[in-house]
Amino acid sequence: MTLIFAHRGFSSIEPENTMSAFQEAEKCGADGIELDVQLTKDGEVVVIHDEKVDRTTNGKGYVKDYTLSELQQLNAHYIFKKQNEKVRIPTLKEVFDWLAGNHLICNVEIKSHEFQQFHLEEKVIAFIRRYGFEKRVILSSFNHYSIVHCYRLAPDVETALLYSYGIYLPWVYAKGLHARAIHPHYQTLTEEIVQMSRQNGIKVRPYTVNREKDMKRLFAMGCDAIITDEPKKALRLRQSDGQSFSS
Ligand code: G3P
Ligand code: CA
Repeated sequence: MTLIFAHRGFSSIEPENTMSAFQEAEKCGADGIELDVQLTKDGEVVVIHDEKVDRTTNGKGYVKDYTLSELQQLNAHYIFKKQNEKVRIPTLKEVFDWLAGNHLICNVEIKSHEFQQFHLEEKVIAFIRRYGFEKRVILSSFNHYSIVHCYRLAPDVETALLYSYGIYLPWVYAKGLHARAIHPHYQTLTEEIVQMSRQNGIKVRPYTVNREKDMKRLFAMGCDAIITDEPKKALRLRQSDGQSFSS
């Protein structure tokens, strides 16, 4: 069966990367959530996508220039909430506290930048250890140096390579980096890539799949999971497909 991961939570109905988006994903029956992490000025791991707070909050500037308490003064309402309704940027710790009460898989995307010198990776792995989430968290990144570093720190935690363009024999590349999965942009995927990757023990979880016709195609190809802003739609389609494919 193809699993369904809610991209930045159920981000088509709630502000992305917020507790309400994650809770809605759980409520609708998603198998997992995807979220993005970065470091604050004072070294806290926070859940936010962009390097800057401008798009998703009422603030301006780089996440790395805010302390946690300054960041949490901002309103992460994005486009979904009324201006006077306060939505906080969550910490990874808050999300993990909540995950401890359910069985969702959590795909943590590491938004790492060179100036961080891998501090983010070390802190995320320390949280995984503290909560015993080694088998529930998948670490992914477009920064493949970061992925190798995660593997060196925690070979027991699954890593996944994010990419947005056509890589030659991606399953070979993934194995070379000790990654256990590829998370490609869905338009780069072919039947051969899915089959060869899976035959070589590499899981395939394309992003960000929101249209019905793409969901159907990727279910039929036998992807291990899809990452989507529309988990409810994906669940409905998966059920109506009567999928028997097992991952
Ligand atoms: O993890 C899949 C997807 O989230 C990667 O792209 O830009 O939405 O973080 P982005
Ligand atoms: Ca992401």
